[in-house]
Amino acid sequence: PRFFALVPAAGVGERSGAGMPKQYVEIAGRPMLAHTLAALAEVPRLAQTLVVLSPDDERFEAALPGYAGWVARVGGASRAESVLGGLAELRRRGAADDDWVLVHDAARCLLRPEWVDALIDACQHDAVGGLLAQPIADTLKAGDAGGRVTATVDRRDKWAAQTPQMFRAGLVQRALAVLGAAATDEASAVEALGLAPRLVRTSMANFKVTWPEDFELARRLLEHK
Ligand code: CTP
Ligand code: MG
Repeated sequence: PRFFALVPAAGVGERSGAGMPKQYVEIAGRPMLAHTLAALAEVPRLAQTLVVLSPDDERFEAALPGYAGWVARVGGASRAESVLGGLAELRRRGAADDDWVLVHDAARCLLRPEWVDALIDACQHDAVGGLLAQPIADTLKAGDAGGRVTATVDRRDKWAAQTPQMFRAGLVQRALAVLGAAATDEASAVEALGLAPRLVRTSMANFKVTWPEDFELARRLLEHK
């Protein structure tokens, strides 16, 4: 089987407060999406990377001039719909049921090729597949709308899910079609089928740029890479 990467980059980045889709915000001299794609380009085992854009994206060509990889304007209203659109496109371009697809958020621009290699090494002979994740170090609180603690949650068996998440093309397509727009990641859709994805421990440096203050942290890390 081959390995494909699929990068959903069709979000609006509302929480970032950037006033534009955050994947196009420049960090350390390049748009966030360029950093993400550069890291994936350094993984020789990936046969191809497909970038999923919004159908009305007007920034990609200027942000990544001359980009030679696969691009599809099939993004949807939710991340899951964008990934489903990308999976259909990968199938059109020849991905088979048992080829692996590594879905990676455009907004995780700190990605390092060695983390992708670690995921592939850990999962390529797994019956289900898996994801990069980080064990929770902080004490976990549940809170109410008024910003008060309602409970302390046992953190010992909790992990923060990251990406890439790696599953067979046929399985993840079926799983997302069943769970639909509600799935915030591929693993939860696969779990809903009764399967248990493998957790592959990684670094918290693989965080998702989400809030306004995250850009500064990402800049510092990218400038000192
Ligand atoms: N994404 C996507 N299509 C959507 C929503 C999200 O392709 N309809 C992508 C984003 O571009 C991002 C990744 O999924 O790379 C993770 O999503 P998130 O961090 O939530 O990004 P946004 O949805 O853009 O941000 P926000 O939720 O703050 O609006
Ligand atoms: Mg979102």
